[in-house]
Amino acid sequence: MSKFLDLFQGKKSGTPPVWFMRQAGRSLPEYREVRKQCGNFLDLCYTPALAAKVTLQPIERFNLDAAILFSDILLIPQALGQRVWFQEGEGPHLEPISLPSFEKTLSFSKFLENLFPVYEAISLVKKNPIPLIGFAGAPWTLALYMLQGEGSRDFAEAKQLAFQNEEAFSRLLAYLGEAISLHLIEQAKAGVNVVQLFDTWAGLCPATHFERWILEPTQAIIKAVRQVYPTLPVIGFPRGLGLNLVEYGRKLPLSALSLDSSVPISLLNKELPDSLIFQGNLDPSLLVAGGEPLKQGIMEIHRDMKGRPYIFNLGHGVFPQTPISHIESCLEWVRGLGDKR
Ligand code: CP3
Repeated sequence: MSKFLDLFQGKKSGTPPVWFMRQAGRSLPEYREVRKQCGNFLDLCYTPALAAKVTLQPIERFNLDAAILFSDILLIPQALGQRVWFQEGEGPHLEPISLPSFEKTLSFSKFLENLFPVYEAISLVKKNPIPLIGFAGAPWTLALYMLQGEGSRDFAEAKQLAFQNEEAFSRLLAYLGEAISLHLIEQAKAGVNVVQLFDTWAGLCPATHFERWILEPTQAIIKAVRQVYPTLPVIGFPRGLGLNLVEYGRKLPLSALSLDSSVPISLLNKELPDSLIFQGNLDPSLLVAGGEPLKQGIMEIHRDMKGRPYIFNLGHGVFPQTPISHIESCLEWVRGLGDKR
């Protein structure tokens, strides 16, 4: 009996299921406590008992409708042999791979073995009945981090390299696609109920290269995963994609499309089939602001989603400074939404 999983079976009842991107970690004091004990963020990801504990913390506190595995999209480059580290207060760092010779640095030989603790964490979480979302970064977003070596506003160096050697860049995307597919399949084997593909930097892909660099590599992943798990629900989150969101939603066999806060739901409604589940798209800053603006934001999303199955979520991750009481009010309001709009 799960509102969240029922939706993927085509059953819709009452108010929408709700979870928040980046709900595990960052904003919770109980997370910071575990993090302090553990020291390093990556050690936390690779310690199954702790990763499972942190995954369940937001469920215990807020009674959300789904858990998302505590992990990170950069575990894939690390498991392929790239050096990845997190500097306190600075975000991720990677030793940049080179194009065209990335195969010299990366290897599949210990890939699944390196990620084994992730699957172990999933098995531990699955001792609880809460639906569990597994995830991976999409090839485009992962490739940007792997070439740039750190987070960036524009990933200018990574994109320059991609344009200068398109053939090698396409090979890198295909290589990552294989790794991502394997990782998602193993997550499903370990027990995740749904998977989400995070294409956080989709908005940085030029429209001219959207098919080559985003659509086709993502299509290949869904195909590979569904060959093994034909009914596994897949959520796509191509943040900032703009008008190409329509193409992304039409061409990919997605179960749900996660929308960032810039997407006008009422316009997109007309372009995509009524059966496609939408997820989103409250501005995370509204959750920080709280009060009447938050309430209005929730009501507007609910009104615009009318007639469509949807999962209430944010347009991007929870900000660390989000007051717990605002998350509580948000849930109260979402769960009090009637069918009158
Ligand atoms: O959603 C969840 O709560 C589950 C866990 C999760 C994390 N990262 C934990 C994390 C998920 C789904 C991610 C995905 C992720 N990681 C993305 C895509 C989604 C998005 O938000 O855009 C990206 C781009 C990354 C890469 C990454 N990891 C960055 C840029 C950073 C630093 C900035 C930040 O977000 O805090 C991380 C670190 C990270 N990943 C933390 C957590 C809880 C913070 C680590 C800490 O405790 O210091």
